[in-house]
Amino acid sequence: PGLAIYDPGFVNTASCRSSVTYIDGEEGILEYRGYPIEQLAEKSSFLEVAYLLIHGELPTKEQHDAWVHDITFHTFVHENVKTFMQGFRYDAHPMGMLMASVGALSTFYPDARNIGDDDNRQMQIIRMIAKMPTLGAWAFRHAQGKPYVYPDNDLSYTENFLAMLFKMSEQKYEADERLVKALDVLFILHADHEQNCSTNAVRSVGSSQVDPYSAVAAGVGALYGPLHGGANEAVLRMLRRIGTKENIPSFIEGVKAGNEKLMGFGHRVYKNYDPRARIIKKAAEDVFEVTGTNPLLDIALELEKIALEDEYFVSRKLYPNVDFYSGLIYEAFQFPPEMFTVLFAIGRTPGWLAQWLELVQDKEQKIARPKQIYTGDRRLTFTPASERW
Ligand code: CMC
Repeated sequence: PGLAIYDPGFVNTASCRSSVTYIDGEEGILEYRGYPIEQLAEKSSFLEVAYLLIHGELPTKEQHDAWVHDITFHTFVHENVKTFMQGFRYDAHPMGMLMASVGALSTFYPDARNIGDDDNRQMQIIRMIAKMPTLGAWAFRHAQGKPYVYPDNDLSYTENFLAMLFKMSEQKYEADERLVKALDVLFILHADHEQNCSTNAVRSVGSSQVDPYSAVAAGVGALYGPLHGGANEAVLRMLRRIGTKENIPSFIEGVKAGNEKLMGFGHRVYKNYDPRARIIKKAAEDVFEVTGTNPLLDIALELEKIALEDEYFVSRKLYPNVDFYSGLIYEAFQFPPEMFTVLFAIGRTPGWLAQWLELVQDKEQKIARPKQIYTGDRRLTFTPASERW
């Protein structure tokens, strides 16, 4: 009864109207609020892009300075959050820690449940963008058995994150500015991607009118999965397993036989080169200039070349996506693979929040509640356990 269109994975169903991000997958175009990703990556900064995503337009100088100031001064978390994080097992995956700790923030800011008030919403947005790097860095230090480093509000957003991760002494932390810029660009590239799996999770959970910390925790959970944010970690494992260029042809044959996927290739929306992958390739060059090259890069380049000439990948329009090269850069920063998705989550936070804000302000939105096509039994007669066993 009732008309239901069967669309598993919502391949052809628009769940919302949105003015945040535009993608043309056939042409390989990505724009945030109408601005091409190439221009933002080259000329903007992550916090300015975050402002653009949240507010819908570029900030004036005053708005920019106030935004950066507010985010900078909300980077600290309640001391009990630290105790909470210290309770995880020594080998806890940092994404599990991030998901739990951002969800836990909802209990530290119960006022966040008042989602009808715009000032209050803006407060939570600033808090969350500010605190994600702190939580992510502490999850990293936890896995290493190192003391957590508190934020240094004299540093920029991205440099402060690097300091909380890598600072080893009382001395002021100073990162190579080319590395800071490259990481900032990576955050920009990940900042939004319209209705991807984690954003859909944020919107779906947010549609119940829960607080934004809980909605974002759902997004982190979705991003944790290997087909979404976990792909760059899987790419590195794949490259390492391939080991040498000579092994690429037999690996490709295995992919074509359906034994496994070529990780970092293919995209639900892009049926052309992912524009982010192009920018990342360039950022990789800048990073390797500082850190020295990653031997896996040669394998990745050769793999890309062979795949792009192979009928299997050509006919299915499978091109490198953002994750094909990002893991190589992260490794050059000396991030362990399980941190890669945390970096993605920090970058994606303004996008999740912009989409959440749009959702809660949209009068047409309803609680997310898809239909189903029921395939089970009906009208069975129940026999009590005492008579069945
Ligand atoms: N390697 C080999 N074959 C593939 C791949 C791949 N990476 N991706 C898709 N295919 C094949 C798939 O088997 C299918 O073939 P056939 O028509 O013969 O059954 C065809 O291409 C269409 O694929 P699909 O599974 O219908 O595509 P989808 O839109 O459901 O999946 C995807 C998109 C990204 C999940 C998928 O391409 C994939 O698993 N890629 C590898 C994982 C990855 O790199 N993920 C990162 C995505 S970008 C960042 C992010 O969103 O987090």
